[in-house]
Amino acid sequence: MSAARQPIGVIGTGYVGLVTAAGFAELGSDVWCVDIDAAKIERLRAGEVPIYEPGLQEMLARNAERLHFSTSLSDALAHARLLFIAVGTPPTYSGDADLSAVNAVIDAIPPSKDHALVMKSTVPSGTGVAVKRMFDEQGKDGLGYVSCPEFLKEGSAIKDFMHPDRVVIGDVGDWAGDAVVELYAPLDAPLVRTDIASAEMVKLASNAFLATKISFINEIANVCEETGADVVEVARGMGLDDRIGPKFLQAGIGFGGSCFPKDVDALKQLAGNSGYHFQLLTSVIEVNELQKRRVIGKLHKHLGGLVGKRVALFGLAFKPNTDDMREASSLVLSARLNADGAAVVAYDPVAEEQARKLVSGIDFAGSPLEAAKDADAVVLVTEWPEFLELDWQLVAETMQGNLVIDGRNALDPDALRAAGLVYDGVGRGDRRRERRS
Ligand code: UDX
Repeated sequence: MSAARQPIGVIGTGYVGLVTAAGFAELGSDVWCVDIDAAKIERLRAGEVPIYEPGLQEMLARNAERLHFSTSLSDALAHARLLFIAVGTPPTYSGDADLSAVNAVIDAIPPSKDHALVMKSTVPSGTGVAVKRMFDEQGKDGLGYVSCPEFLKEGSAIKDFMHPDRVVIGDVGDWAGDAVVELYAPLDAPLVRTDIASAEMVKLASNAFLATKISFINEIANVCEETGADVVEVARGMGLDDRIGPKFLQAGIGFGGSCFPKDVDALKQLAGNSGYHFQLLTSVIEVNELQKRRVIGKLHKHLGGLVGKRVALFGLAFKPNTDDMREASSLVLSARLNADGAAVVAYDPVAEEQARKLVSGIDFAGSPLEAAKDADAVVLVTEWPEFLELDWQLVAETMQGNLVIDGRNALDPDALRAAGLVYDGVGRGDRRRERRS
């Protein structure tokens, strides 16, 4: 067996775990997946994929022979030396990362000189040191430890696994680090091999920086609304500067998802716990919360109050190509709309099932036109391609009112205006109207 095709274990079968398992199976490894959720393991054994991620089902099916699912850690230990940890690290009430699932794995693993934990879950910088201490205390000092943070984006996770911008491996320079380097070698990605604490910090700092970029452009958008500039044009001009780059400069109604809100907060708390007040991140979080609520102000401005008004939400997921509703802006939006007396009807091509578990007091429609029927306003919440290709003339005819708030600056203002709709984006100013007049 060549080192690059060594078997691995993956503990936790959420987004990160399943994509990691599928990816390494695709590269030729046998993969032993372990999860404490017996029902989930049963579904996976039956070929059912519990999450929506483009290409994942196909990749798992293609490599079914190499993928093994179990609720028992011993199955993975018996077959693999490297155990990738991909369990959840949700925020606690204090904003720190909850490491109880990680700790449960550490407690469960027996002493061994032949095994190593490879941390994929996002954990605070310093976790590696804490894990090593726990190993020592539990008489398991032979176990290896590698930090290998995951940078995949939901919706493009398979592509991100196969074509990563970089692979970051933090270790102490032993066999385990070498083995992880070998595993990733076929991907031919830039490798950052470093110490454990730095690898952990690369992940948190990257997410915090990207979130900062979004809050920054959102604040520029808000200023554009005051000055009449168009943030789309501003971002285009800024993005051509090599040092800035065009990505993550899309103004909108705020970032959500399982990583940004959690990781920005976790880094802020981590800094605070170490005695440093990370002022910038406090603002990044606050700007994001306010950004979600600005839509409500726009609706009030245009509709002159929301009591008895019917508002259609186009999209609910925190971004397109996922059914993930974690920290989605739609959660805040729908609750605020309800509180202000509006009737809310929503359509999302994929996330309805997840949304039903989290939101109450809204109706769900089976199509965009059904949602728009008799609506006073439509709010584009998630830029699913389906909405971009809509016949807005039909939407206009179906609605009772004529207001469209483009929460993602994804629609064509001219096309909507030509359909007789009132278009209001995020930071779009009045440039187009000025040019026409
Ligand atoms: C993110 C990181 O990109 C990824 O590297 C990390 O591993 C996990 O967190 P993800 O949460 O899947 O990935 O989504 P991403 O595509 O980064 O978008 C996050 C949020 O930011 C979405 O709500 C999106 O709508 C928003 N966003 C993104 C903007 O509002 N503007 C932008 O320009 C980019």
